[in-house]
Amino acid sequence: MSEKSIHILGIESSCDDTSAAILCNTKVLSNITAGQKVHEMYGGVVPELASRAHQQNIVPVVDTALKNAGINLKDIDAIAFTSGPGLLGSLMVGTSFAKGLALALSIPLIEVHHMKAHILAHLIDDPEKNKPTFPFLCLTVSGGHTQLVLVHDYNKMEIIGSTIDDAAGECFDKSAKMLGLPYPGGPFIDQYAQKGDPNKFFFSKPKVPDFNYSFSGLKTSILYFLQKETAKNKDFIQQELNSLCASIQESIIDVLFDKLILVTQKLQINQVAIAGGVSANSALRKRLLLEGQKRGWQTFIPKFEYCTDNAAMIAVTGYFSYLQKDFVGQDVVAKARRIF
Ligand code: KG4
Ligand code: ZN
Repeated sequence: MSEKSIHILGIESSCDDTSAAILCNTKVLSNITAGQKVHEMYGGVVPELASRAHQQNIVPVVDTALKNAGINLKDIDAIAFTSGPGLLGSLMVGTSFAKGLALALSIPLIEVHHMKAHILAHLIDDPEKNKPTFPFLCLTVSGGHTQLVLVHDYNKMEIIGSTIDDAAGECFDKSAKMLGLPYPGGPFIDQYAQKGDPNKFFFSKPKVPDFNYSFSGLKTSILYFLQKETAKNKDFIQQELNSLCASIQESIIDVLFDKLILVTQKLQINQVAIAGGVSANSALRKRLLLEGQKRGWQTFIPKFEYCTDNAAMIAVTGYFSYLQKDFVGQDVVAKARRIF
């Protein structure tokens, strides 16, 4: 017998991207994201401006997602939305919208954990890709989080290690800011690094116990180095931009992989995935393939469009909750902090 077709509307508004997606089971029919240019001039996301922009974007984004999927509101079986973690004002826009629409359509409402959704993006239907099977290990690297997660099943995930201060994405963005690059700087570092020498400059590595991460020391070491060199030569950054980007990127990836390798050895696990915005980084993707070949891992790298924030990952997570009938009532609220 063929599988029943379930249509889920996914809504993501946890930071500065307003996104809506329609999935039929795990197949993406549409995935629309409106970014917010308003933050560029401030060099970071301004929460109040983000929530206002979400309010402006959410109706047209959902409308376009429905049109592109070729379905009507009455065809939707459930609405999945990010309830946290993230910026409270931003989350409230998606949460209120999802609650209102679910009430109007009399359909179930599903709350989704943003970081779990980054991981379950690996289960989106893609004929060209193998999917990980449970249990697998996922390095989740985004603008706000850096976590090593042991994924037992759709809902049961165990954090093995996480950052004690800055996230990897934050380290990319703050380093980019020191180099005079626009926000968010991760993709710019990635781009300039391709023409640079990753072994030209060295920065001090953190020493953190267990499987946890720290990036604040690396950030300070980059700052002091740049201050020292620009005092000697004011054009230092401009002249060395490519190799500075390549060396900073290499340092961040080294830190990430030191602990990732330790965890795979400790847990004896050989399915390794990456997820989150920083998993779009080309050198990180290459390193995972390389280490995978060397160590006999099966590796899983998300498609670019499912690395950074998107609603397809929210909808696919919602689909698995739908199968479990894991619904929430109208009393659900947005949560800036949400544990796993
Ligand atoms: O997952 P995401 O879209 O949002 C959060 O949940 O935080 O991640 C955003 C982060 C930003 O720090 C951004 O600079 C970083 O992902 N990022 C990258 C690249 N693309 C996005 N970092 C390094 N290289 C990239 N290509
Ligand atoms: Zn994210």
